[in-house]
Amino acid sequence: MKFASRLDRLPGYPLAELPARKRALIAQGVDVIDLGAGDADYPPPAEVIAAMRQATGETALSKYGFQQGNPVFRKAACDWMMRRFGASFDPQAEVLPLLGSKEGLSHLPLAVLNPGDVAVVPEPGYQAYLGGTVLSGGEPYVYPLTPRTRYLVELEEIPAAVLPRVRLVYLNYPNNPTAAIAPMEYLERTVAFCRRHGILLAYDNPYCDLTFDGYRAPSIFEVPGAREVAIEYFSLSKSFSMTGWRLGWAAGEKRFITALTRVKSYVDTGPWLAVQQAGAFALDHAERLIAPNVAELQARRDAGVGALREAGFELESPVATMYLWVPLPAGVPSAEFSRRALEEAGVVTLPGSAFGPGGEGFFRIALTVGGARLREGILRLREVLARADVA
Ligand SMILES: Cc1ncc(COP(=O)(O)O)c(C=O)c1O
Repeated sequence: MKFASRLDRLPGYPLAELPARKRALIAQGVDVIDLGAGDADYPPPAEVIAAMRQATGETALSKYGFQQGNPVFRKAACDWMMRRFGASFDPQAEVLPLLGSKEGLSHLPLAVLNPGDVAVVPEPGYQAYLGGTVLSGGEPYVYPLTPRTRYLVELEEIPAAVLPRVRLVYLNYPNNPTAAIAPMEYLERTVAFCRRHGILLAYDNPYCDLTFDGYRAPSIFEVPGAREVAIEYFSLSKSFSMTGWRLGWAAGEKRFITALTRVKSYVDTGPWLAVQQAGAFALDHAERLIAPNVAELQARRDAGVGALREAGFELESPVATMYLWVPLPAGVPSAEFSRRALEEAGVVTLPGSAFGPGGEGFFRIALTVGGARLREGILRLREVLARADVA
């Protein structure tokens, strides 16, 4: 059997093999500390679980949701965006429930790109951008996120030969994996650039509520004129620790939402209506329900950054996300470091190279466990690094 050549253009998925290897080590009795996937150890809010219990008993919610989904969720998403960003959307026409934002991000190129069209993809970055572009037959233009631009994608730097073919750009701030944030001035000139060049801006914002030290992450729709060029993605996964429930949404002008809806009509039938019902409850009480998670993450960030600095790593303290993006000493390959961290110290980290070659020289820690356990994991990492033969 021969498979499609597009499969060969997909890089290996970084988290694909990890769960099996982790299980094997645990079976051998290793005390594994998993700082890999962005999936915190605390549960979803008890009240959301109660809302879900109730929703499962409503048999009408066991029917196909189709793309329309549960009107209660559409309304809750719009109410939340109004409260949170002062942005008004029509619940029927300008919002689309998603099976987690990942699928909406990766399906978007099917609606936007023709063969030969280009999507700008940040690297290191969330893999769905590249994967969706490749699977749609589009061409990724990989832009390296480095300290030089404070991990911002500077669209002015796209070569003149490529620019006319660019139809789509993915941006994600607060950023996974670098934890970088985007200043308003940057977002304004980026929206202006997209408007000038007719580029759709897919703004991926699942970490907008995981912010510390008084920082407030904006919506792209706070930028004047953004509606003409932007579609924004939100998720319940990280804010409410509901990763497995698979619920998010896209928001934007009707023509963008309609295009994505058309694609999705052929590939899925929408999130379970009961999950949307419970998700609506979560969004209606978001401020109160998210606050304890953010306080916990901030404490973890402080513990993690402190322990890393004591261990000799040099990093800034991030004001958002659930990640620490940690530079490795020169000459230490990230894949080898993360492999040895797992095999010799039982600590799961993600090597920077797993986010594309542009991530080399770094590794990512997710703040998935409490401060004491985090410190223990970082202590073990220090020992791995201290062994002279790691480089
Ligand atoms: C930047 C970014 N976007 C989107 C997602 C997808 O989240 P979900 O599909 O769970 O909504 C993630 C998950 O890790 C992410 O890091």
